[in-house]
Amino acid sequence: MSVRDVLVDHPAPEGAVRALDLASFDVKAGDAVAVMGPSGSGKSTLLSLLAGLTTPTAGTVKVGATELSSLSGSARTAFRRRHLGMVYQADNLLPHLTVEENVALALAVADSGANATARCTEVLTELGVDELASRYPDQLSGGQRQRVGVARAVAPRPSLVLADEPTGSLDDVAARAVVRTLLEATRFVGATLVLVTHDPAVATSIGTTFHLRPQRHDRQDR
Ligand SMILES: Nc1ncnc2c1ncn2[C@@H]1O[C@H](COP(=O)(O)OP(=O)(O)O)[C@@H](O)[C@H]1O
Ligand SMILES: [Mg+2]
Repeated sequence: MSVRDVLVDHPAPEGAVRALDLASFDVKAGDAVAVMGPSGSGKSTLLSLLAGLTTPTAGTVKVGATELSSLSGSARTAFRRRHLGMVYQADNLLPHLTVEENVALALAVADSGANATARCTEVLTELGVDELASRYPDQLSGGQRQRVGVARAVAPRPSLVLADEPTGSLDDVAARAVVRTLLEATRFVGATLVLVTHDPAVATSIGTTFHLRPQRHDRQDR
């Protein structure tokens, strides 16, 4: 994916608020990148652009060969359903559905054409959470819930997975397990991963880190 010369301004009574000013951000298909930066530097805005939920005031955002701002609203929604997986800080699992039903619902929404039962079993097994399939979210630990959240995000085989602080409410041990699950999961489906984190240990385990600052945006490879 690539972001070029992007500005995102939000109208406000006292004048526009600049949420993001980014010359370039590139991630090769199948790669994993961590995004770090202080609060207010535009991390969530960047993910929202990549998800096609925010239209840039200027500049271009491409995911694969598709320039998101060239799509109509409904085409962008369809693109998002087919190609995007999201993992949030809170797991956002539906409390009255089992683990398996939560994943099956994601498959139905994505309309991926996969056999839902077979794909659920496959993805839960690949990610080592198959023994949790018939539990409800409140019967899981925070780390287990996030790993199920990862399974739900990758079940439809998206090409891009966006994660906003997915380990933000976990202890170090659970955070490591979730990051490992995310990396394995995206590798299994060949998806690109963009993960926002405040945790340098998480960023190190992802590998490449992109630093957002209010004025300067530097890429640094490790
Ligand atoms: N809808 C909006 N309206 C006005 N300002 C916004 C809006 N969304 C974000 N901002 C501002 O843009 C900046 C970047 O926000 P955000 O992307 O949420 O930063 P981060 O996720 O790095 O904390 C902040 O100063 C924020 O207040
Ligand atoms: Mg944010």
